[in-house]
Amino acid sequence: MAERTLIIIKPDCVQRHLIGEIITRFEKKGLKLVAAKFMKISEDLARQHYAVHKGKPFFEGVVKYLSSAPVLVMVWEAQGVIDMSRKLMGSTFGYDAQPGTIRGDFGCSRGYNLIHGSDSPQSADYEIALYFKPDEIADYNLADSSWLYGKND
Ligand code: RTP
Ligand code: MG
Repeated sequence: MAERTLIIIKPDCVQRHLIGEIITRFEKKGLKLVAAKFMKISEDLARQHYAVHKGKPFFEGVVKYLSSAPVLVMVWEAQGVIDMSRKLMGSTFGYDAQPGTIRGDFGCSRGYNLIHGSDSPQSADYEIALYFKPDEIADYNLADSSWLYGKND
C-alpha cells in the first residue's frame, strides 16, 4: 500500500478562506485524497495529537490553537507522500518558510502556521488513527494514475 499522511488545515487557514487553495496544491501535485472530515478538535484530542511535544514551553499554546475553531482533517496517499507534503508545507514558521511553499506564501507568524502534516510513517499511523476509523478511508484508484507515474516509478 502507498504511504499515507495526516494533513490538517488549521483554524487560521480555514478562517482565512484558504481551504480551496491548499487542497488545489495537493491535488495538482498528483496526491490522492482518501479521507476528509471538517470538525472542531477538542482540547483533549489536541493534547493527544501533540503528545510528542508534551512538556515543551509551546505545548499549551499549540493545544489551544489547534482546538480554537474548526479545521479540515484529511488523509492523503502516495508513495513518498509524507516528505512531499512537508515540502509543500514549508518550514514550521511562515517568516522563515521559502516562498512557493504554503507557509512561505500565506503566513508570517510564529503562532499561526496554517497547516499540519505528519513527520514520519510512525506519526502518520498514530495521527490517522486519532481521527479516522479504517472504514472511513477510501480505497480507490485515480483515473489518471497511469499519467502521474511513468514506467520507471
Ligand atoms: P506541525 O506538527 O503542526 O505540522 O508543525 P511542524 O512539524 O512543522 O512543527 P513541530 O516541531 O512538530 O511543532 C508543532 C507545532 O508547535 C508549534 N511550535 N512552536 N515556539 C516554538 O518554538 C514552537 N515550536 C513549534 C508550531 O505551531 C508547530 O506547528
Ligand atoms: Mg510536527
